[in-house]
Amino acid sequence: MHMRTKKWAKPELSACPYYADEPVSYKGIWRTKFPVDQPLYVELGCGKGVSTAQMVHDQQDRNFIAVDITSNVLGDARRNVERLYDGAPVRNVILSRFDISRFDEYFGPGDRIERIYINFCNPWTKRPKYAKRRLTHTRQLMQYRHALAPAGEIWFKTDDDTLFDESLPCFEESGFETVTLIRDLAVSDFTPNYISEHEQMYRDLGVPIKFLIARMHPLDAAGQARHDAVIEEVSRREKNERRRRAERS
Ligand SMILES: C[S@@+](CC[C@H](N)C(=O)[O-])C[C@H]1O[C@@H](n2cnc3c(N)ncnc32)[C@H](O)[C@@H]1O
Repeated sequence: MHMRTKKWAKPELSACPYYADEPVSYKGIWRTKFPVDQPLYVELGCGKGVSTAQMVHDQQDRNFIAVDITSNVLGDARRNVERLYDGAPVRNVILSRFDISRFDEYFGPGDRIERIYINFCNPWTKRPKYAKRRLTHTRQLMQYRHALAPAGEIWFKTDDDTLFDESLPCFEESGFETVTLIRDLAVSDFTPNYISEHEQMYRDLGVPIKFLIARMHPLDAAGQARHDAVIEEVSRREKNERRRRAERS
């Protein structure tokens, strides 16, 4: 479904003091962009930021980066944050627009991210070969390792059984231990659970929401070899894309 462009979104984001429009230049130094250095949480694919805004407002002793690829939804996210802060200064969130499949270009070891949220990402289930595009595929998880703090966590929610089940071995082979696994959030007493736009939509349809927390641990020798191979492939792909972009311009 094509979403109509919201003409107000880009100008509102440009004027927003907590919008990062040069995210590549923040790689490794995101923590220094907040007035107070406190635990850093990153949400990948925040959409309209319905749950993000609530979480950010409730947890002002944490810093958040909320990323999406679309200005339209980030414009809504900004408005949702503003509504809750009600004129008070917003100091603990940065919104930014970039493609998280290129995570390594935007985050590095200096960022020491304590937690990554992935909520209702595209399941990429139509064809087996699309699985590589998932935000929970080994290729992505190995990239997140670089920027996570020791014992950093990934909090992952989805309505999609295939995505959830096929992600479990990816977490394991990428050196993450699943420390919480819930197959129906609606009947669990897990707290705090911030309900996003998509979670509400699936709850209303009666679809069970799958949720896990995966904690990073050091890799053994075989895991390290897998990691190095994945990162080599990612850098090769990035180099090729950069070359193609340069040739086009
Ligand atoms: C299904 S929506 C979920 C939004 C929100 N997390 C929620 O739970 O309501 C997926 C979001 O991920 C964003 N997204 C998809 N691929 C992305 C990418 N490669 N980089 C950044 N954002 C992406 C989309 O623009 C969309 O807003």
